[in-house]
Amino acid sequence: MHRGIRGLPTLGVNIDHIATIRQARRTVEPDPVAAAVLAELAGADGITVHLREDRRHIQERDVRLLRQTVRTHLNLEMAATDEMLATALDIKPDYVTLVPEKREEVTTEGGLDIVSQTARIGGIVDKLQSAGIPVSLFIDAETAQIESSVKIQAKFIELHTGKYAEAGDETSRDRELASLIAGCEQAMKVGLRINAGHGLTYWNVYPVACLPGMEELNIGHTIVSRAALVGMERAVREMKQAICRQLSA
Ligand code: PXP
Repeated sequence: MHRGIRGLPTLGVNIDHIATIRQARRTVEPDPVAAAVLAELAGADGITVHLREDRRHIQERDVRLLRQTVRTHLNLEMAATDEMLATALDIKPDYVTLVPEKREEVTTEGGLDIVSQTARIGGIVDKLQSAGIPVSLFIDAETAQIESSVKIQAKFIELHTGKYAEAGDETSRDRELASLIAGCEQAMKVGLRINAGHGLTYWNVYPVACLPGMEELNIGHTIVSRAALVGMERAVREMKQAICRQLSA
């Protein structure tokens, strides 16, 4: 949550897909708790998990154990529901990232619409932050969403980098990057702290790491994919390196 070496962002390692492999067989391995220990030993600055309503990967047991074992900080991604609010208030992660959630989606699609749900999401932000849990809102880099995030007094926003990551050519990639830069500048002006994530890889992360005011990048799928082949420690170490310099594809 604080800018790392040379002012570059810190790395929150999302370990959801370690749990995806375990849930494929409904067994006990691999254990996300062990993955978090290895990620931290390799230099992860934080551990992120998404406890989804359908419990397709991370289970409540994982979050409770991670709360006791994570030595860096634990970021709990969750839907803005009363059930998840109660769970977060009980477990007390270091921060919560509110995300939109649809059962049928493969992964989180699009950012939260704060504009149309200011009162409801504002109520959840207020309850969490009053309990000492800072809240980050996963949003698209749009002026109105940032304005509404300020209005409900969230401490952080997490800018959705999915469109940037999926851009098919240089022109659209540059357009998405420009929109992320504008979002960061607007957020900085109003005192919102900035994280980013979704779809980031070893090859596309560097320009996002260089965005103004960027504090933490939450990255999962690409790290777990590499970890399956070369091990968690090397995968995390190489992502830390990728945040510091452009890799050629
Ligand atoms: N940030 C948020 C809010 C997410 O929902 C996800 C996916 O769970 C990520 C970051 C990580 O995305 P990826 O797995 O594509 O790195």
